[in-house]
Amino acid sequence: AVLVEVGVTVSLAEIDLSDLAFWERPMAEREAAFALLRAQPGPVLFPEPEISFAPPGRGYHALVRHADVVDASRNAEVFCSGRGAVNVQDLPVEFNEYFGSMINMDDPRHARLRRIVSRAFTPKMINQFEADVQAEATRIVDDLLVKGPGCDFVTEVAARLPLKIICDMMGIPEEHHQTVFEASNIILSGGDPEFMEDPGRAAELLLGAGQRLQDLVVSLADAGGDNLITSLTSANIDGEKLTMQELGSFFILLVVAGNETTRNAISHGLHLFTENPGQRALLMEDFEGRVGGAVEEIVRVASPVTWMRRTVTRDHEMNGHLYREGDKVLLFYWSANRDESVFTDPHRFDVLRADGPHVGFGGPGPHFCLGAHLARREITVMFRELFTRIPQIRAAGEPDRLRSSFINGIKHLTCDF
Ligand code: HEM
Repeated sequence: AVLVEVGVTVSLAEIDLSDLAFWERPMAEREAAFALLRAQPGPVLFPEPEISFAPPGRGYHALVRHADVVDASRNAEVFCSGRGAVNVQDLPVEFNEYFGSMINMDDPRHARLRRIVSRAFTPKMINQFEADVQAEATRIVDDLLVKGPGCDFVTEVAARLPLKIICDMMGIPEEHHQTVFEASNIILSGGDPEFMEDPGRAAELLLGAGQRLQDLVVSLADAGGDNLITSLTSANIDGEKLTMQELGSFFILLVVAGNETTRNAISHGLHLFTENPGQRALLMEDFEGRVGGAVEEIVRVASPVTWMRRTVTRDHEMNGHLYREGDKVLLFYWSANRDESVFTDPHRFDVLRADGPHVGFGGPGPHFCLGAHLARREITVMFRELFTRIPQIRAAGEPDRLRSSFINGIKHLTCDF
């Protein structure tokens, strides 16, 4: 056992990253546990969580240091995504692709799929959405002022902006936004009982949510217009169109990835600024000059995506450790973002932080977050609108956290002003 600077004692024997109970432990204990894991001579092997619809696996190595996460991300030929990036277990390929599309694939197919949509996410294209992002943020704050203090920040504020923007980009009419919201909650909930009702029926619920989104995209595919669904339906990959199944899974990836993560970053942001009023004052002294750094710091500290998985394609040594073909590794972005060898005083929320870079949007490699520019823009506009129009807004009480190891989510957060 070691005593780390957060003042909590943990021992290696009591750390099980696969146990959901670990993710419900107080933040200081989790920080201490990861500090202890980072201090080990090599990555620690953990058992896989059991699920009914996958065979038992032989466990995974937890990559918790910044250097390991960065180097594995860079070397996608050895640390591949094609056997699953969003699940620890080896799921049937159809299931993997259905819920992950290109995120669960390797180049060259991954690159071909990514190219279909990547143009829509460049800074130049995102600039064209600036007016829409601004208009929606204004509407959200207008509504919030009418609702008054005491309401749920997640549903009334944080969830609305990313949902509206990704739905607009996809060409999904307003009447279907609630379906998208509910289905993506289920897909990313990782078995949280609030969304799963009965975790034993997880696979069924997941497939049901996937099916609802699949039906939606099929019904919209013929509608035409200048949107991402049209880009997907008209795309040509090696002379072939995407099948309805591929179209559906791509659509699921975009709406799910474009929603939850940014929502959680905005909710964590309010919580962090509430707990660190000095940092908020620093930001407000020079909002335009400092907001870029503040957004990166929110994403670093929150790390809305806790980990992604890779599988080792051939025996390979990295940073003094030998990985064997077939080994699974989990890239713990959350932990790499707290690595004391890269970040001074890593547990401190510091909007002026100059060290890094963080890996909250993934490491440098082919799967680096496609939506990073969009997410940054949404978070920036939301906080500008909130903090200038309701300067006293704050989180009241502790966040109600999602029960998941994969997504660092906030389900509810009361706000006061
Ligand atoms: C990939 C985080 C917002 C779409 C990723 C990855 C991370 C991440 C860590 C890496 C996956 C890997 O290593 O395998 C985040 C965070 C966000 C955010 C923290 C918000 C704060 C968005 C938005 C979109 C988006 C707004 C819009 C559609 C995607 C897609 C991928 C991805 C499509 C897969 C890219 C690929 O496999 O090539 N994201 N994301 N993300 N993200 Fe984001």
